[in-house]
Amino acid sequence: MRKKITVVGAGNVGATCAQRLAERGYADIVLVDIIEGMPQGKALDILESGPVVGFDSNVIGTNSYADTAGSDIAIITSGVPRKPGMSRDDLVLTNMKIVKGVTEELVKASPNCIIIVVANPLDAMAQLAFKVSGFPRNRVIGMSGILDTARFRTFLAQELGVSVEDVAAYVLGGHGDTMIPLTRMATVGGVPVTEVLPEETISKIVERTVKGGGEIVALLKTGSAFYAPSAGVVQMVDAIILDKQNILPCAAYLDGEYGINGVFVGVPAKLGKNGMEQIIEIKLMPEEEAALKKSVDAVRELIEIMKI
Ligand code: APR
Repeated sequence: MRKKITVVGAGNVGATCAQRLAERGYADIVLVDIIEGMPQGKALDILESGPVVGFDSNVIGTNSYADTAGSDIAIITSGVPRKPGMSRDDLVLTNMKIVKGVTEELVKASPNCIIIVVANPLDAMAQLAFKVSGFPRNRVIGMSGILDTARFRTFLAQELGVSVEDVAAYVLGGHGDTMIPLTRMATVGGVPVTEVLPEETISKIVERTVKGGGEIVALLKTGSAFYAPSAGVVQMVDAIILDKQNILPCAAYLDGEYGINGVFVGVPAKLGKNGMEQIIEIKLMPEEEAALKKSVDAVRELIEIMKI
C-alpha cells in the first residue's frame, strides 16, 4: 500500500506541498482546510495534472479529519501568514489556537504519524504540536532550517557565479531574526567561502538571509513565501519516506544536546523512516554557541507567551 500524507491548510504553502508531494508519486495525499470546497477543488486540480505530469498518486481534498485517518506523515501549514512589517512572532497568538486544534485532530485520526510543522512562528509552533500531541520527539519536526539554508546557499551562489548545487551551508537556530548562518562552515566546491569572499560581502549575505522571509513578504504584500518552504517540506518527507538518513537542518526538540534542554530550535538532524532519528552535535565556536543560546531564549519567550 502506498504511504498516506496529510497536508493541513490548503493555502499557498499547503497546496504547493500537496502538488510537489503528489508529483513524487510515493504517497497518496489528503489536503485539509476549514474552507468548504477549496481543498476539494485544489486537490482535484492537482489530481487532474497527473496524466500530463505522469503521476498516479491519489489526491483528495476534505474538511473532515476522518479522511486523514492512518496517515504516515502530517504536515501542518494551517495558520495565518505575515503581512508586510510583521515579524513571525506577531503570529503567535493567532496561530497557536489553530495549531493546537489541528494537532488534536491529527493525533486522534493518525496516532502513529510523524508531524512536520510549517506554521509560524515555527519553533514555538513545533513546541506546541509536540506538547499537544504527546508524541515522542522523533515524531515532531519543524521545517525552517532547510529554507533558511536554501536562501543562504542561493545568495552565496549568486555572488560567486556558481551553481547552487556547489554551495553547501548550514543555518542554525530559531526561524527568526536570531537565526545563525554558519559562515565558517559554508563551502563552495569544498572550499570555505571565507577564503573566496570578502568578510563584508559575506556579512551582507548573512543579513539578507536572516531577513529573507521578510524580503518576500514585502514583495508579495499579501502573503509570505511558499515555493521554497514547500520544497523544504518535500526534502524532509523524501528523507522519511525513502529512509534516506539525510542530515538536514530542522527544528528539533533538544534534550541536552548543545547544552540545551526542553525546547525546539534549528539544529542539524538525521531524518529517516522514524522521523528525527538523531541530532547531530557539531562543535561550535564560543560566539556561535552564544548566538544559539540567544536564539533559544527568543523561542522560550514565545513559549512563555503561549503558557505551555
Ligand atoms: N484547519 C485547517 N486549515 C486552516 C485552519 C484550521 N483550523 N485555520 C486556517 N486554515 C487554513 C486557511 O483557511 C488557509 O487556507 O490555512 C490556510 C493558510 O494558507 P495561507 O493563508 O495561504 O498561508 P500560507 O502562505 O500557506 O502560510 C501558512 O505557513 O509559512 C507559514 O507563516 C506561514 O503560518 C503561515 C503558514
